[in-house]
Amino acid sequence: MKKTLILNGSPRVKGDTVSLIDIITKNLDGEYKIVNAYRCSIAPCIDCRYCYEKEGCAIVDGMQEIYDYIQDCDNVIIASPIYFSELTGKLLDVASRLQTYFCARHFRNENPVPKSKKGAVLLVGGGDGNMDKAYDTACCVLKHINCNDVHKLIYSNRTNTRPAAEDREVYNAILSVAEFLNN
Ligand SMILES: Cc1cc2nc3c(=O)[nH]c(=O)nc-3n(C[C@H](O)[C@H](O)[C@H](O)COP(=O)(O)O)c2cc1C
Repeated sequence: MKKTLILNGSPRVKGDTVSLIDIITKNLDGEYKIVNAYRCSIAPCIDCRYCYEKEGCAIVDGMQEIYDYIQDCDNVIIASPIYFSELTGKLLDVASRLQTYFCARHFRNENPVPKSKKGAVLLVGGGDGNMDKAYDTACCVLKHINCNDVHKLIYSNRTNTRPAAEDREVYNAILSVAEFLNN
């Protein structure tokens, strides 16, 4: 059975990001786990450098369950609003805990995530600016988790005037993302 990890960077319970997550989860095969960056008990990395020498992380919190899920899962989706053209700060807090994988590769010469995964990035923004910066950051985060086969960016902008849930083009694009992740 396929497993998908979804990192949700939005603080809004019924916001635009959640409306896109709802579409993808209805169309994904298998099971999924959603990490809500604003409501999870995951602290940011404090660069203590424990992982320069040891596996895992010195901070024991909600992240250990995510590390386990990362080992098992087939897909990872990053879904977020853009704040100042970037992924939200809280999402980056969670992502900072993936530094242990970087250290495994670069300092301990280990392969921390042997199973490769597919990835996708869903972004929303109130304005009409471009989302390249946030997409680049998301791809960098995905690379840490051995997610190199990433679908092209799917985004809904101008949410200030139209909710992402009403963006027909994005709805159809998300169906193709689901197909990409299911196959
Ligand atoms: C602090 C903050 C910064 C934002 N920066 C941007 C931005 O740089 N570009 C943009 O298009 N929208 C920006 N927005 C608008 C949100 O991305 C937009 O309202 C989005 O649809 C909210 O998604 P959500 O409902 O999933 O939380 C910002 C909103 C906030 C609160």
